[in-house]
Amino acid sequence: MKIIGTGRAHPSKVVTNAMLEQFLDTNDEWIVSRTGMKERRVISSEKLEDMAADAARKAIEDAGLKPDDIDYIICSNVVNEYITPGLSCIIQGAIGAKCACVDVNAACSGFIYALDMADDRIRAGKAKHILVVAAEEPTRMVDWTDRSLCVLFGDGAGAVVVSYGEGMIASRLTTQSKTDCLYYVRKLEPTPYITKPEYGAPMYMNGREVFKTAVLSSSRDIKRLLDKAGLQPSDIKYYILHQANMRIIEAIANWLKLDMSYFPHNVDRCGNTSSASIPLLLDELAREGKLKKGDKILMSAFGAGFTTGACIFEWTK
Ligand code: ACO
Repeated sequence: MKIIGTGRAHPSKVVTNAMLEQFLDTNDEWIVSRTGMKERRVISSEKLEDMAADAARKAIEDAGLKPDDIDYIICSNVVNEYITPGLSCIIQGAIGAKCACVDVNAACSGFIYALDMADDRIRAGKAKHILVVAAEEPTRMVDWTDRSLCVLFGDGAGAVVVSYGEGMIASRLTTQSKTDCLYYVRKLEPTPYITKPEYGAPMYMNGREVFKTAVLSSSRDIKRLLDKAGLQPSDIKYYILHQANMRIIEAIANWLKLDMSYFPHNVDRCGNTSSASIPLLLDELAREGKLKKGDKILMSAFGAGFTTGACIFEWTK
């Protein structure tokens, strides 16, 4: 599998740390020193599905294809206004494609899981051109009176088109059922028969536990992948890591003994956009001309579950 097109869409509303100071007991110094975030893009008037379709159209155009050429759509998404149908079905209609569609929820690792599924499908000869979209609005899962969580997130949609080729070098997915450190519970409709206690609550996160698990699991995935591919850390042009927190990215850079030029980031401008963060950053780098044919890229993500996903691929465009 190789990546032949990328695209992205951001919400129009930019929320700076100073804007958060107006209604939360927080400050720019705390947010920047703990997270590296200066601002984030937050959904206001937009609908997530429109942003997802926008990113998808750009990726298809970048690939030099038409929506008709797409023969499978995978959308990574944690939350959106629809429980059903899947966001992928809505994207299909909006862009005018006609293929089979499926959604995947592997939290912030979802884009890597979706890419891995696409790789399998292409290797099996079941599809020629697959659209992979990651569209996320985590700002709708948090309590905006809770300063410890709402400052961390932003919304966005990133997309890639993949096709047959020599791009994917190695991938690795892991899941350990560790559901108590990061979750969001939604209350379902009542029925006349429900007797068990039920509740809904905004996102809960044990920040320190997530921080520790993220650094350890991402470092482990990176080491295993480099070994599998027979590569040294400095053979990779860019490490495109899940953009959850600048300090997590810096900890992984330190562990690899690499300087920060290997670690492009958008967390300072976009916040944590869940599974959209990696394709958003990939598209940014591609459109700025920072990716050259033959460059090796390592992507690594982690998220609720606890899930992790990582892959190494060669830029072939
Ligand atoms: N502004 C000011 N003070 C704050 C804020 C805020 N926005 N939020 C918390 N504080 C206070 C706390 O109340 C606490 O005060 P206290 O000592 O008086 O009780 C103090 O700051 C320290 O709080 P901690 O939670 O211990 O701060 P910590 O240094 O651990 O940083 C953070 C918190 C940034 C959440 C960190 O734990 C972290 O980055 N964790 C990883 C989070 C992450 O990556 N999540 C996403 C992964 S999965 C996904 O992407 C969905």
